[in-house]
Amino acid sequence: MIFEQLSAGGCKSYLVGCAETCAAALIDPEIGLIDRYLGLASRHGLRIHYLIDTHTHADHFSATRGLARRLEAPVAMHRMSPAPFIDLRLDDGDMLLVGKLRLQVLHTPGHTRDSMCLRVEDRVCTGDTLLIGATGRTDLPSGDPDALHDSLFNHLLKLDPALLVFPAHDYKGRVHSTIGEEIASNPRLQVREQPQFGEMMRTLNLSMPSHLTEALRSNMNGAKTVAQMLAEAAAAVPFMSLTELRTRVESRADDLIVLDVRERDAYEAGHVPGAKLLPRGQLELRVNQDLPDPTRRIVVCCEFGRISTLATATLRELGFQRAVALDGGMKAWREAGFPLQAGREP
Ligand SMILES: [Fe+2]
Repeated sequence: MIFEQLSAGGCKSYLVGCAETCAAALIDPEIGLIDRYLGLASRHGLRIHYLIDTHTHADHFSATRGLARRLEAPVAMHRMSPAPFIDLRLDDGDMLLVGKLRLQVLHTPGHTRDSMCLRVEDRVCTGDTLLIGATGRTDLPSGDPDALHDSLFNHLLKLDPALLVFPAHDYKGRVHSTIGEEIASNPRLQVREQPQFGEMMRTLNLSMPSHLTEALRSNMNGAKTVAQMLAEAAAAVPFMSLTELRTRVESRADDLIVLDVRERDAYEAGHVPGAKLLPRGQLELRVNQDLPDPTRRIVVCCEFGRISTLATATLRELGFQRAVALDGGMKAWREAGFPLQAGREP
């Protein structure tokens, strides 16, 4: 078995492959690591057959759907998952064949209603049901402390104590533990009675994960994240550096249009000398009138370099084939001490 654990800010994902047949499954992939998963799969000579989420994640962005399209492989989740794009709905006791490996599904609701653990050979990927020295929280949508108690004490913890535990989270850099070690030393598992366990889980008072609403929107609806929109725009446009723009502005060497897409007050407080104002919100409305010549070279700037990237991608789609985005924004331009002009557009 090929087994790789990848970590991104406390979130763990797993590439599980059959060395003999080159088939693999990817468990809980995260959007920021897509290139690493694909790189790692190629390095091991693996082909990913299943993209699996152990549950609906509220704290990070799942890459299952994006990878599924790219790899033409199914997204697999427990059948209770609310996401409409699941190709393969799994139930307790189901098994996925990954080459000669057998991935066994255990439905373990509690952290969420659709939580499951995946057992393969000598180990179990526990998702957020069981963590090293902790358990998943039960205060997020569809969480249920009593269900978690049942999943843990009547199911997961009854497995072979020697089974290795690979959780979906660890914030202390630990790799794995075992069922036996968790039974012996996990503080939450020392509270064995259901009412006391429920009371403990209900009074943890954890702070809400950052990006909660965006993560649920993306993971449940398959919506793109803001970071994805930006990454796609950045991949579709060329950039110009701040120093290159300064040189060109100072030498007036070519007929470059500097297009400032911030709001008027920001523009009037200080812009690149000679820049033209066209706020992002009005771009599509005013483009025909304000930029009649699609063959002109346009460099687009904003405050931080993100909105300008989106605006440049829009301009390219509109046929401005020489539109480029400033690599950085007016904030960086000011901090570099580059020339500024204040006041209204001439
Ligand atoms: Fe989770």
